[in-house]
Amino acid sequence: MSDHHVIIKDQSSGQSLELPVIRGTEGEPTLDIKSLPASLGYFTYDPGFSSTASCTSDITFIDGGQGILRYRGYPIEQLAEKSDFSEVAYLLLYGELPSVSELAAYNDEITNHTMVHEQLNTFISGFHYDAHPMAMMAGVVGSLAAFYHDKMDMDSSEHRFLSAKRMIAKMPTIAAACFRHHMGWPTAYPKNSLNFAERFLHMMFSVPTENYEIDPVAAKALDLLFILHADHEQNASTSTVRLVGSTGANPYACIAAGISALWGPAHGGANESVINMLNDIGDMSQVGKFVARAKDRDDPFRLMGFGHRVYKNFDPRASIIRVAAHEVLQALGTSDPQMDLALELERIALEDDYFIEKKLYPNVDFYSGIIYKALGIPMSMFTVMFAIARTVGWVSQWVEQSETPTRIGRPRQVYNGPSERDYVPIKSR
Ligand code: CMC
Repeated sequence: MSDHHVIIKDQSSGQSLELPVIRGTEGEPTLDIKSLPASLGYFTYDPGFSSTASCTSDITFIDGGQGILRYRGYPIEQLAEKSDFSEVAYLLLYGELPSVSELAAYNDEITNHTMVHEQLNTFISGFHYDAHPMAMMAGVVGSLAAFYHDKMDMDSSEHRFLSAKRMIAKMPTIAAACFRHHMGWPTAYPKNSLNFAERFLHMMFSVPTENYEIDPVAAKALDLLFILHADHEQNASTSTVRLVGSTGANPYACIAAGISALWGPAHGGANESVINMLNDIGDMSQVGKFVARAKDRDDPFRLMGFGHRVYKNFDPRASIIRVAAHEVLQALGTSDPQMDLALELERIALEDDYFIEKKLYPNVDFYSGIIYKALGIPMSMFTVMFAIARTVGWVSQWVEQSETPTRIGRPRQVYNGPSERDYVPIKSR
């Protein structure tokens, strides 16, 4: 709703324009600049979109200054403590916490879709055994469009929700199959009597020759990580899903694009990079050296798992994960020297003026890898774990966008190339 305007004045022409201020239910007031090009002939320049709201959304709210994250109004701390991933997925997708019968019906529907078409396994077996699972995920999830494209009516809300639930259900099955292909193990089919996290652990680690007992500590930890990663408003991968979705593309193609965006080390790929960095640091004596490198402008090295575009105080997910990492290591009776190294790195960085001035704090990826490692999940699968959880956010955002009138996403540019010049035939150049 607009309750006031900001007037901007063009000094060269003397013209002025009233720009309406949009206020959401929370968050900073936002200038509606849509009329700017037509009225004054200007575009706006905002590389990295640090100052640009690309959409309105009812799903997730972040206050980066206060370290607040809420799904549909519910604080992440409460959801992490009291809820579980299925309920959170329902909340993100439908907007409200489910009743007992709504949750049962939702879980029933999800379990109806946990299997994948057998033909899909031939895609997976076509990859080399050491293909990165994120590359496999992007390819295999994209190929789901080939299985469901003709039957999908993009104008039907029912079909949109159905494809959203299909993706939530199938993502863990595909992820585990990618891992098992690497291991050379036979496919493990989803066991629908288990909950979401347990089912994934079973598909990852059960082998036909042994009984597989699910460790409740591992299942609970995984469920927590899935909750914390489920959505994060208009981050790079979600914006990718929305941008691709704005063209009317098949939803599986949109999610495959989101997976590719997530893979980058500046985004979801950071969880793998953190463990690589801790490996490179090696031991406590080297921490100072790596902190110095992170501060050196001439060195491209950055502390992975540190810093965030939006959080400028602390990342509430990181605070929860740090405590959980301690608890998981303790409950599993294991210790991890990398946990001590990570704590020391955090301590030194948080006392350093460079990190204080730039407001750089550990983010969600800093400690998550330590938990994944303790659960036996290999490093190459860390970002896949993120993708399984974030699928809920991606499909919820995609459904929200698809349910509201949307124009194709089409940013502009400041052109700096050559002005018009005449073509010169190759022999005369
Ligand atoms: N280590 C050292 N310096 C840093 C770091 C870091 N991790 N992050 C930012 N800076 C510095 C950066 O060099 C810049 O300095 P200056 O102003 O002197 O040029 C300043 O802080 C601002 O950085 P920026 O790159 O303009 O900030 P951004 O908002 O564009 O980037 C970020 C955010 C997360 C990409 C960045 O902090 C980063 O690369 N962090 C490491 C990768 C990482 O942990 N990514 C996971 C993000 S959270 C989960 C997710 O999104 O998936």
